[in-house]
Amino acid sequence: MAGRFVAAIDHGTTSTRCLLFGEDGTAVATAQRAQTMHYPGPGLVELDMAEVWQRTQECIHEALAAADAQPADIAGIGITNERESVVLWDRRTGRLVANSITWQDTRTAAAADALAADEGIHRFQQRTGLPISTYSSALKLRWLLDQDPARREAAGRGDLLFGTPDTWLLWNLTGGPDGGVHVTEPSNASRTLLMNLRTIEWDQELLAIMDIPCALLPEIRSSSEVYGTAKGELAGVPVAGVLGDQQASLLGHTCFDHGDMKCTYGTGAFLLVNLGTEPAMSKHGLITTVAWKLGDADAVYALEGSVSMAGALVQWLSENLGIITDASEVESLARSVENSGGVVFVPAFSGLFAPYWHDDARGVMVGLTRFANKGHIARAALEATAYQTYDLVEAMLADTGLTQLGELRVDGGMTKNELLMQFQADLLGTHVVAPAAAEITATGAAYAAGLATGFWSGLDDLRGNYTITHGWEPYMSADQRARGVAGWCIAVERTLGLAG
Ligand code: G3P
Repeated sequence: MAGRFVAAIDHGTTSTRCLLFGEDGTAVATAQRAQTMHYPGPGLVELDMAEVWQRTQECIHEALAAADAQPADIAGIGITNERESVVLWDRRTGRLVANSITWQDTRTAAAADALAADEGIHRFQQRTGLPISTYSSALKLRWLLDQDPARREAAGRGDLLFGTPDTWLLWNLTGGPDGGVHVTEPSNASRTLLMNLRTIEWDQELLAIMDIPCALLPEIRSSSEVYGTAKGELAGVPVAGVLGDQQASLLGHTCFDHGDMKCTYGTGAFLLVNLGTEPAMSKHGLITTVAWKLGDADAVYALEGSVSMAGALVQWLSENLGIITDASEVESLARSVENSGGVVFVPAFSGLFAPYWHDDARGVMVGLTRFANKGHIARAALEATAYQTYDLVEAMLADTGLTQLGELRVDGGMTKNELLMQFQADLLGTHVVAPAAAEITATGAAYAAGLATGFWSGLDDLRGNYTITHGWEPYMSADQRARGVAGWCIAVERTLGLAG
């Protein structure tokens, strides 16, 4: 085994990181850079992926320096990323055609409605595991191609390349226009509405329906294998793992077995349960997705509940309302009041994702009285994350036939918020637990790369790295819970049909 560490590049919606992991799964160095989000109009959410690549390189540099590491010390590189977002660039120059249209962007709402008009939003569910919505990549890509006939022509000739963010980072990391590999893997490809969930291949019929030329698609490889070697600061190091961020976190939590479940509280909140090697379809509004495909082994699937606004709502309280100056202040503001004072906040800013899938929903705050103050709003905003997760858990229980959760494993920035985690345990009536390692998503990406390069020998090797150190017990009475949930359901109803 060459190298002391495995490097993980973790590109999230609001920031990008590079971490170096030792054999015990502990991060020995972490570098993080924020990236600018662009909101050019209502419902539009974009990122400049040139900036993201620049920030990624800065993070790599800083993480290597922090650990006093050379490329020879790095056994492999794993990439994990915010999913569904669409990047389009010139094959020869690497120049981006436009900002990426990110997963939260709702500009394709009318196109999604049209596609679902005859057979409903579950038209492609059996084939892709996904509902038709603004969330997945295909319609965003079509929108980008439709903006300019010359662009569409260039795409058909193979002069342009498409990728979700993993593909863009991998291509740049392995040389960009100078021999970069144009590859993705199933946990990301299964989010595009273009991949057949069973064959793990691009679906020709869906490509035709969506009017997407094959020439710009990356090759779908496994989630854990050597795709190529890095250029630049990590020159010569094998890039050997790629996973969408939520699937990476499932792996990082060592949820290797059927029924293992986790929730990550990032920009959005994402609940995933391991389905094993059978891609069962949800009847309650969840997505079926590839969790990972490790080398030649069969793909492992997951059921996923995705909500688009969790940490992003706290960011909005800070950036758009100015009632806190930094996200870290939200807990103390929320604690300045005893409860939400009857205020219920449904942050349907990008429509409602799972389990509702209403593209036409928009955010609402209800239950306001003259008594309500910014403390109540902060508290209602935090509670919104817990209620949205409650909806996902209910759907998950209905789909799996379970009556009660054993425990919920959690990670992500919002798990530092004791008030939220306690409310989450109360609302679910279950234990909520968090591991010692904070950066579970990056850990999963490192595992994918470390398994491919022999840094770790197999999944059993990884289980020993996982230690639970935090836990929250439920205390809320069933009566109080039922009242809260009833108020939440009424507020959710009010979000419908508000999109302009
Ligand atoms: O599907 C979107 C998801 O991958 C974004 O993750 O961490 O930015 O909330 P995050």
